[in-house]
Amino acid sequence: MARTRTAILISGRGSNMAALIKAAADPAYPAEIALVLSNRPAAGGLAVAQNAGLTTAVIDHAAFGNDREAFERAIDARLIERRIDLVCLAGFMRLLTPWFVARWEGRMLNIHPSLLPSFKGLDTHARALAAGVKIHGATVHLVSVDMDGGPIIAQGALPVLPNDSAETLARRVLAVEHRIYPTALRRFASGQNCVSGADEVIDAESNSDRMLVSPAS
Ligand code: GAR
Repeated sequence: MARTRTAILISGRGSNMAALIKAAADPAYPAEIALVLSNRPAAGGLAVAQNAGLTTAVIDHAAFGNDREAFERAIDARLIERRIDLVCLAGFMRLLTPWFVARWEGRMLNIHPSLLPSFKGLDTHARALAAGVKIHGATVHLVSVDMDGGPIIAQGALPVLPNDSAETLARRVLAVEHRIYPTALRRFASGQNCVSGADEVIDAESNSDRMLVSPAS
């Protein structure tokens, strides 16, 4: 079966991108990375993608001033040119217009560093600590016009430790991200989940039954 031609959109170091690239290096993985696109020319992830032999592109948002749709039309043109089926946002730090979201609706995933719907937006780890939650994590979801609000595909959780700072928590959540994004993309690209209604992803098969309790005793 043809593999799903996937583009990864990044803005920075691209560690989630690297996790997806590593997973897709297996020919049996149902998605192939056909493009890595950054909105920042200095994004560290670009070199990682190039070293992996992948096609990369830079579309610098700064060149478009305030015209967000023109910026997105340039991205869209590159996605079409590369015959992309699916877009994975991986630390892509630009808000998308309803036009772009509608164009890729149902075909665009994002990873967010919190257990959505808690802590949408930025500074999720500091806000989780301030709220005193005992369990925190990350979410992969479909992108909808509602920011960080689309149907959830996968989540990973871990305990918040008594001495955690935003930095230590971010580091451990990042490891969770690297685990759940390849899983979510594999499941999505192989049709293991389908979206029902506006906001629910139905899993063809679920295989997690472990309980996470924090504090444990
Ligand atoms: C990741 O933690 C990702 O969840 C987050 O940015 C980081 C990118 O790291 N994304 C967002 O906050 C989106 N709102 P990476 O470039 O190493 O993958």
